[in-house]
Amino acid sequence: MHNSPETRMETVLVTGGAGFIGCSISASLLQSFKRVVVVDNLHPQIHESGTRPDELADGVELIVADITEAATWDRVLPEVKPDVIIHLAAETGTGQSLEESTRHTHVNVVGTSQLLDGINRNKALPRRIVLTSSRAVYGEGAWRNAEGAMFYPGQRTSETLDKSEWDFPGAVPTAMRAAEVFPAPVSVYGATKLAQENILQAWGKSYGVETAILRLQNVYGPGQSLINPYTGIMSLFCRMAMGGRSIPLYEDGEVRRDFILIDDVATAVVAAATSERTHPTPLDIGSGEFQTIGTAAQTIATRYGAPEPHVTGQYRQGDVRHAWADITDAKTVLGWTPRYNLQQGIERLADWIDVQPDVKPA
Ligand SMILES: NC(=O)c1ccc[n+]([C@@H]2O[C@H](COP(=O)([O-])OP(=O)(O)OC[C@H]3O[C@@H](n4cnc5c(N)ncnc54)[C@H](O)[C@@H]3O)[C@@H](O)[C@H]2O)c1
Repeated sequence: MHNSPETRMETVLVTGGAGFIGCSISASLLQSFKRVVVVDNLHPQIHESGTRPDELADGVELIVADITEAATWDRVLPEVKPDVIIHLAAETGTGQSLEESTRHTHVNVVGTSQLLDGINRNKALPRRIVLTSSRAVYGEGAWRNAEGAMFYPGQRTSETLDKSEWDFPGAVPTAMRAAEVFPAPVSVYGATKLAQENILQAWGKSYGVETAILRLQNVYGPGQSLINPYTGIMSLFCRMAMGGRSIPLYEDGEVRRDFILIDDVATAVVAAATSERTHPTPLDIGSGEFQTIGTAAQTIATRYGAPEPHVTGQYRQGDVRHAWADITDAKTVLGWTPRYNLQQGIERLADWIDVQPDVKPA
């Protein structure tokens, strides 16, 4: 049900709003804002058909344009004059970013600075900008040694990984919380997301524009890409299990991740756009618990009646060992709480995949 027009805020502009997260927030944004405008270039790695996605709610205006081009902002901003901007557009392939660092840096960093310069040129200062950052900014994050002292182990090397030394000996990992753990990215993607944060915060403070930064953990669920080979481990596992394959587990299968269902991410992003106040440090968004990749794979295999997953001992350069969020601050500031656990989330993802046309087992 729509709020009465009087209670809705004016205009929200969403960059990259035709993607996975953008589509999932689109209906909800129409309830909170009178006008919802998306700027998205319908990138072929995400949008196979190059047409408006069905999942983007009717009533949302879609402008097909590239965020890295100054002309985009000179065309869009004078007419739209958004009160709130939600900046989602990005290149998101962590592994891919090592091989295509210019592409990732151009879209994520220059795309952000073009938006900000465009705002200045067109005198279109919004009240708030929301950025979806990533847990990738933390890299391996902080661990505690045997005495309980926090330290930063840094990036794992081929030398130790080749010996199957997956963890940092004698140490235990800690949850990611922006107020306590320093960022230390180990991928180009992570470095570009941190650059986005820093640029936005410096600029926002200078112009009195509120900034809300959400560091998202691994988002999955209905609507996620079934064609992008660089993202989406959960949909890949589903398609493997669907084909009757045993899911291969890297390292020892004990890699920790924080899989958060898209529905819970959507409520967090909308809360960040509409909340009364913002928070000076980034907020960590996760499911409230960690899972191992092995547990996620096992749950998916059971759902499809596939053979048991198997450990391969392989590793991927740039993968971090463990990652999960401490969501205390997000709960307090946003009045938000995740509602789905892993089992429920996988059911929702698998039910959705089952009815997708042309879905191919992997
Ligand atoms: N999905 C996750 O697990 C996750 C986790 C952490 C952070 N994030 C962040 O959330 C944001 C959205 O992620 P998503 O999962 O919806 O990704 P997505 O790839 O589904 O959506 C990104 C959208 O941006 C558009 N886009 C890409 N380059 C563009 C350009 N140059 N100009 C205009 N549009 C462009 C694409 O067409 C796409 O529709 C990203 O900033 C990403 O870094 C996502």
